[in-house]
Amino acid sequence: MSVVSIVGAQWGDEGKGRIVDYLAQRSDLVIRYQGGDNAGHTVVNEFGKFALHIIPSGIFNDECCSIVGAGTVVNFDTMAHELEAIPKQLQENLFIDIRAHLIMPYHCLLDGAEEESRSGHWKVGTTKRGIGPCYSDKASRCGLRAGDLNDPETFRTRLEMLLPKKNRELEFYGLRTFTIDELMEKAETWRERFGAKIIDTLPLIRNAVEDGRNILMEGQLGVMRDLDWGIYPYSTSSNPTSGGACNTGGIPAKALDEVIGVVKAYSTSVGGGPFVTELFDDDGKKMRDVGQEFGATTGRPRRCGWLDAVALDYSAYLNGFTGLAITKLDILDGFEKLKICTAYRINGETYTQLPETRLQEQAKPVYEEMDGWLCPTSSVRRWEDLPENARRYLRRIEELTRTPIRYVSVGPERDQIIVVP
Ligand code: GDP
Ligand code: IMO
Ligand code: MG
Repeated sequence: MSVVSIVGAQWGDEGKGRIVDYLAQRSDLVIRYQGGDNAGHTVVNEFGKFALHIIPSGIFNDECCSIVGAGTVVNFDTMAHELEAIPKQLQENLFIDIRAHLIMPYHCLLDGAEEESRSGHWKVGTTKRGIGPCYSDKASRCGLRAGDLNDPETFRTRLEMLLPKKNRELEFYGLRTFTIDELMEKAETWRERFGAKIIDTLPLIRNAVEDGRNILMEGQLGVMRDLDWGIYPYSTSSNPTSGGACNTGGIPAKALDEVIGVVKAYSTSVGGGPFVTELFDDDGKKMRDVGQEFGATTGRPRRCGWLDAVALDYSAYLNGFTGLAITKLDILDGFEKLKICTAYRINGETYTQLPETRLQEQAKPVYEEMDGWLCPTSSVRRWEDLPENARRYLRRIEELTRTPIRYVSVGPERDQIIVVP
């Protein structure tokens, strides 16, 4: 019986969806606590292969309740599209919190235009899903919330206050504007489809916590793109950290039993900003090709590099990881030598703790090298059956993060996992 937070420990795409799908088989509640459909959480199981964007990755357990939490931003058009692929009987226990903010059509247009207006070096590389503009409205306290859909009068009043300002912003970028009527019509479509699923989820969450049920908190993205602690301004607009999970997931910090950091066995990042261990050579190309490192939401090629233990140590501290889930170990099967970055060199100085964004941009990685294992691991299911060099590599990650490894994933499918004794 426990409350477990699943956090991306790097720059996103660590395999959170895959780990949540595995753990959700024994969970009563899964809460996606932040972000929106900028996420692409890949799940491969008996129902098929899915790239989940806003739907919690616990949806495939029909006895588990899936909550799109208070801290999320929701585009109901893309949610409807996403649900088309998911068997109807699995959708019954899906709920959206009344406090989740609505991603409106103008948010998506503004996201694209704001990104266009950033010059080369400063491009964030957003997913153009309207995330930043929607969270901006939330912080300005003019945003529309899911619960407002069920109260059309309030929805109209708030929209009337807001829309002239949004239309001026759209005009500034030379974009199309919106009328109250067309947005009211859209809201009505969303209400008809989702109105009954939009509830105050806190009583449900609170009961589950107080009854000692198994709860999973599913984070979006990773610590390195956290709004406060990530590589600002190349960050997202919410908090993927375990602190964010408590804050927006409706869980008191003291109720959290475990924090599992999901760590890819190497590093990838999609979008702008510093990425100290990025590889531009054949090893990087090999990681991208073998690991199929292309964005699950945008299809963009992901930047690839060696494991960055400086960033991981930072992540372990900030999140208070109680355990790690290492994913994609199998992708390293064909590498003769592996490197782990254990320090940065910046202006002649050595850093073992992660510095702020601008210093990261000037950092050169200091590596230690290890021998690879050069044999397949994807069918291994027991720790003791892993090649010795693979175990050595994993033990080194434990040492550098001072965190025990709980799971090792050796393939995208649900059962391709080693539970570490
Ligand atoms: P998320 O956003 O953190 O859920 O991660 P993504 O789904 O964006 O990216 C992870 C990718 O790696 C997906 O294509 C998964 O199917 C795949 N994947 C996850 N774990 C493993 C693994 O252990 N081995 C292999 N080969 N693929 C994996
Ligand atoms: P999951 O949950 C990887 C990146 C974008 C961009 C920055 C901000 O699948 O790990 P945003 O659209 O949030 O304003 O973009 O964050 N980004 C992701 N990178 N995985 C994701 O989600 C991402 N969501 C956003 O590339 O640099
Ligand atoms: Mg992803």
